[in-house]
Amino acid sequence: MKKVFIDTDPGIDDAVAIVLAHQMGLDIKGISLVSGNVHRDQGLVNVFRLSHFLGKDFPIYTETDRPQVYPLSTGVDIHGGDGLGGTDLPYEDLDYQENGMDALIALLKKEPVTIYALGPLTNLALALKKDREAFKNARLIVMGGNAYVPGNVTALAEYNFWCDPHSAWDVFENFPGLVDLVPLDLTQYGLLTQDRMESIEKENPKIGKFIQEITKAYLDIYQRKDGVRGCILHDPLTLLVDKYQEKFTWEEVDLKVETGEERRGLVQVDKTSSRKNCRLYTGVDPDFLMDVFQEELLRKGKD
Ligand code: RIB
Ligand code: CA
Repeated sequence: MKKVFIDTDPGIDDAVAIVLAHQMGLDIKGISLVSGNVHRDQGLVNVFRLSHFLGKDFPIYTETDRPQVYPLSTGVDIHGGDGLGGTDLPYEDLDYQENGMDALIALLKKEPVTIYALGPLTNLALALKKDREAFKNARLIVMGGNAYVPGNVTALAEYNFWCDPHSAWDVFENFPGLVDLVPLDLTQYGLLTQDRMESIEKENPKIGKFIQEITKAYLDIYQRKDGVRGCILHDPLTLLVDKYQEKFTWEEVDLKVETGEERRGLVQVDKTSSRKNCRLYTGVDPDFLMDVFQEELLRKGKD
């Protein structure tokens, strides 16, 4: 089984990503919480909720609880007060460790791991400052940014990079190799419609009901904004680029993230530079993307 480590700010789409990782049969070596959609400590409770829902224990870690420089600006207006659409799902308090990046570094020194960064990059920036060498064997796949399409927090910037642009800058400056980046340019093709959610529910009622329950408020926002009964779950789509890389369009670029107040989170892409620090995913067939999302979500037996 593929060993993965997930850094997350759960959030509705983060929650679906963790369920998807489990359904895909990934070997989840750790889940670390970062502040973003919700404060780290609310995210911790939400991982307890996912553990309860899946009936599965994960090694759970905390680390930072705020962006490097700017004050924390959560996404509770989109994700609901509890971060999971106000669903108040059941949970039991579970054991967890602090200093999650020390645990990640120790893991990387033992074996190659794919890291999925699904929130602001505060923890990963800290880890790279602690021990850049340890990341030589790692693959880092980040959900964030917007290269050639508008942002989703401001016209210029996507939330994860806007929330903590200094850490995004650090990660793209310090990671020893190419960061795989899944930006809004790619996730825009991943519209999850009400019809598809109902089709998922038919095949696996437990998973289908869960997704419909936590996305209801999210769908209402999309319906009010775009007039469609569908939503884009950015984080779970990020889990697909590794296994199905040949199905995606990507380019190797030199990528920087602006940190100044005016243009915070803005992504600058240079395709001509001799320095390449990013594999930027920009295209996929929308039907393939959502069909394989559904296929992987339903891979494990019907509960
Ligand atoms: O812009 C989308 C990203 O910001 C996703 O990771 C979502 O969970 C929020 O963190
Ligand atoms: Ca997220």
